[in-house]
Amino acid sequence: MGSLQKTAVRLLFLSVSSSASHSQFASFICSDVKTEYDKTAAISCIGNTKITNVVVKRCESCNEQNSCLETIINTWNGNYSSENGRIRLVLQHNVSEVQIQEVKATDQSSYQWYLHFDNGEGNRCTNLEVTAPEIEPDFTRNGRKLACLSSIGHRQRQIHWFDGHGTNLTGSASLVSEEAEGGLTSLTSTLHEKPTLTASEYCCTVLYDVYTKRNKTKCLSAHKAVTDYLHFTSTPDQEILKTMEAQEIPKTMEEHIPIILVLIVLVLCCFAAVLYYRHRQRAMARGSFADLLRTLLPILRQHEKAEEKAPNQECDV
Ligand SMILES: *[C@@H]1O[C@H](CO)[C@@H](O)[C@H](O)[C@H]1NC(C)=O
Ligand SMILES: *[C@@H]1O[C@H](CO)[C@@H](O)[C@H](O)[C@H]1NC(C)=O
Ligand SMILES: *[C@@H]1O[C@H](CO)[C@@H](O)[C@H](O)[C@H]1NC(C)=O
Ligand SMILES: *[C@@H]1O[C@H](CO)[C@@H](O)[C@H](O)[C@H]1NC(C)=O
Repeated sequence: MGSLQKTAVRLLFLSVSSSASHSQFASFICSDVKTEYDKTAAISCIGNTKITNVVVKRCESCNEQNSCLETIINTWNGNYSSENGRIRLVLQHNVSEVQIQEVKATDQSSYQWYLHFDNGEGNRCTNLEVTAPEIEPDFTRNGRKLACLSSIGHRQRQIHWFDGHGTNLTGSASLVSEEAEGGLTSLTSTLHEKPTLTASEYCCTVLYDVYTKRNKTKCLSAHKAVTDYLHFTSTPDQEILKTMEAQEIPKTMEEHIPIILVLIVLVLCCFAAVLYYRHRQRAMARGSFADLLRTLLPILRQHEKAEEKAPNQECDV
């Protein structure tokens, strides 16, 4: 009977272990999340069975396993939250959710999950994208100094400069980046107008995403009006070039008007000087003739008198 009992127990044990091995393997899904800056981000994994333990690490990239250095959740150690509760784990049966409050730009990262179930374990990597505010650039001009300020936004955004013809002037600008709240930055790009760098129009473009080319552009014309361009054309076609040339002709004429006026005045002055000189010469010629006459007349008169006297003297002799 004892041996029968033992085999029965053995059989029962076998059936139990076989049923356990036959039960479905732990499977789970984790998804990527996109959250607005300062809102609450919720990254989660859902399993087909009860989740018993969770470890979450922050990584630089999902492709680099050894970049997962910071552990934010570890239920084995009783760590259900971090950063004074800003980041916390909500574990409900087969749903494991990490909630990040007041999400920062620096929370944009990859998160590696290590999940433990009654019947197995596994890991997955998910990405959290934080969308930062995309505010319009502030474009100002102070004399020859042009400044483009993007006061707050993602650190990976860029500032580019163009002239009215779409020529890239970015190489001549200098960029200053400052740390702002929540891992965001403040960018200021400055361009100095020089004799070798002048344009009828300057445009400052804040490029938020290099891949989608999402951007906001502000332009400042020589007439100092700031205009917004929703769709900035970087390659002006012939039509635009022609109209630009047509606009430039009266402008150059305008620039030459003072020079032409000065030339006219100069010519008139020369003319007047020549006239005056000639008049004076004639006047002087007339004056000298009169002087000559004035000096000659008494001499002639004396000569006449002498001649009158001479025959008398001869007569006297
Ligand atoms: C998670 O568990 C619930 C029951 O608690 C179940 O209805 C649901 O289907 C499970 N989810 C998955 C993905 O298996
Ligand atoms: C959480 O983990 C840290 C180490 O990363 C440890 O010092 C701390 O005691 C843990 N907190 C709790 C509540 O166990
Ligand atoms: C403009 O030129 C700079 C280098 O001077 C370059 O980094 C940038 O990508 C260029 N921008 C465009 C839109 O071609
Ligand atoms: C800005 O966006 C427009 C589309 O709206 C695009 O045509 C242009 O190339 C973008 N500018 C830059 C510098 O990427």
